[in-house]
Amino acid sequence: MHVLPADRTAPASLDELRAATHACRDCPIGTLATQAVCGEGPVGAQRMLVGEQPGDQEDLAGRPFVGPAGQLLDRAMAQLGQPRDTVYLANAVKHFKYELRGKRRIHKTAGQREAEACAHWLDSEISLVRPQALVALGATAARALLGRPVAVQAERGAWLHERADGRAVFVTLHPSALLRLPDAERAAAYDRWLSDLAGAFESPL
Ligand code: URA
Repeated sequence: MHVLPADRTAPASLDELRAATHACRDCPIGTLATQAVCGEGPVGAQRMLVGEQPGDQEDLAGRPFVGPAGQLLDRAMAQLGQPRDTVYLANAVKHFKYELRGKRRIHKTAGQREAEACAHWLDSEISLVRPQALVALGATAARALLGRPVAVQAERGAWLHERADGRAVFVTLHPSALLRLPDAERAAAYDRWLSDLAGAFESPL
């Protein structure tokens, strides 16, 4: 668990979490974003899937995983018979980090500073949602959930038992990593990712 800044108390509900993250200025990116994007899904879900940060479309909609990466995730989940609304979808960082190029807002990977500033919000979200187990999509989420740097390709596809709260963490690729692959590599990488995700819905071993 990460240390709550001295002037805070942990939010008592998801509504309080939403309001507190929206107002958060513990790192600079909150001033640029439209709004904070907390997770969505059922409280008590078997799985919480954690991504990196909201993208452009999520920032505007105020919902996680609604852009291209989310659509790929939705497709995979539907194929696995685990529809999106049965899991809780969240992000390690709650505000969209970007740089402006002309009028376009170009995603910038969240740095360790932003991830650390947001870590206690993710802890609160996990405590409030009480998922049985956690799935890290990509390196930022894996580091936020395990508290150490994670080489995703080396550690993907298995349950890791390192958290003080006892929740197992399953690491796999972020869907954006698949979208960035050359066409020739994408189909095979998707199949392997799907098989990772299938493992994430089996009982933590
Ligand atoms: N990528 C993420 O990590 N999270 C989102 O919500 C959208 C894209």
